[in-house]
Amino acid sequence: MSETPGTSPLLRVLAGQRTTMSPIWLMRQAGRYLPEYRAVREQAGSFLSLCFNPKLAAEVTLQPIRRFGFDAAILFSDILVVPHALGQQVTFVEGEGPRLEALAQPEALSGLRDEIDHGALEPVYETIGLVRRQLPSVVAFLGFCGAPWTLATYMIAGCGTPDQAPARMFAYSYPEAFTRLIDVLVEASASYLVRQLQAGVDAVQIFDTWAGVLPPDEFRRWCVEPCGRIVAKVRGQVPGAKIIGFPRGAGTKLLSYLDGVAVDAVGLDWMVDLGFARDALQTRRPVQGNLDPLALRAGGAALDREVDAILEALAGGPFIFNLGHGILPDTPIAHVERLIARVRRGPASG
Ligand code: CP3
Repeated sequence: MSETPGTSPLLRVLAGQRTTMSPIWLMRQAGRYLPEYRAVREQAGSFLSLCFNPKLAAEVTLQPIRRFGFDAAILFSDILVVPHALGQQVTFVEGEGPRLEALAQPEALSGLRDEIDHGALEPVYETIGLVRRQLPSVVAFLGFCGAPWTLATYMIAGCGTPDQAPARMFAYSYPEAFTRLIDVLVEASASYLVRQLQAGVDAVQIFDTWAGVLPPDEFRRWCVEPCGRIVAKVRGQVPGAKIIGFPRGAGTKLLSYLDGVAVDAVGLDWMVDLGFARDALQTRRPVQGNLDPLALRAGGAALDREVDAILEALAGGPFIFNLGHGILPDTPIAHVERLIARVRRGPASG
């Protein structure tokens, strides 16, 4: 296959092409497993002040590209800057995770803005400009947002929970108020992604981390339908915008996701069966995934075996190598190097 020099392999996959070597990047590739990240993080003070410091955020976005030569850089930010830009108070507690003023009752929604405050997100757009100028054109630059359902789970509970019971209860108990919240998040997310694309990212990923906790009808209503609207709205303003969807935990509901969300590629978590991924999903759309982050942390023969199985199943079609969820903070750097070398060696070549 001819491969035009200068074009990013990842963008070629998003255009539906198969590449001789699978492009690779890792979710949360900028993060605490890197000593250079920890140093900048300390300098920035709080996590949000790192997200909103264009110089430092650009620096940590580029760190994993310099160290490992990944095929994509992902903007350093967080999905929870959107609730922040809708007027909800968001903080990150060291070692514990995000804390928001919980929207426990429908009345609490009246405290939110109807529209996203782009002024509050100006530093993010500035970060994109800084990274864009420093990134080689063969490296794809990805922006992102959280999907409305996943954002709503944090906005309603005020923190992470194992099964998102507070948001599920809210959606069953107050469907009208929940619909209003999802509608606000659809508009906010679409306009946030448009601004990221205009500022210079090549493609965007929609993270629906908690898609898996919903039963099928609720999944269609709160994940598929809103994400489908975001994709249509973004393309209405940026024709041909490249979009990856990652409905974590969706399992066989990935089929209804592909029916309703016109993404260019779908991200798979580590629980997705590789035969199903190849035969039922990759025949319809390029796929991205799906190494178990714990296999990367474990390293050695287990890592090699899992990587080979994924390449064997998926590298024959349009495919982006990634983890099935974010890299764990205690992952050894040597394991990441071993992973990249193995992926670039290709499937079953001795
Ligand atoms: O490298 C990258 O992938 C880009 C940056 C990025 C972060 N968060 C940085 C981050 C991205 C794409 C995210 C997305 C995100 N944030 C998601 C969706 C993907 C997923 O992982 O499920 C979610 C659910 C969040 C919300 C969030 N942010 C949580 C629950 C936490 C706490 C858990 C943790 O890992 O600490 C965060 C904090 C966070 N976001 C960190 C980083 C590097 C760690 C904070 C720190 O450095 O102190």
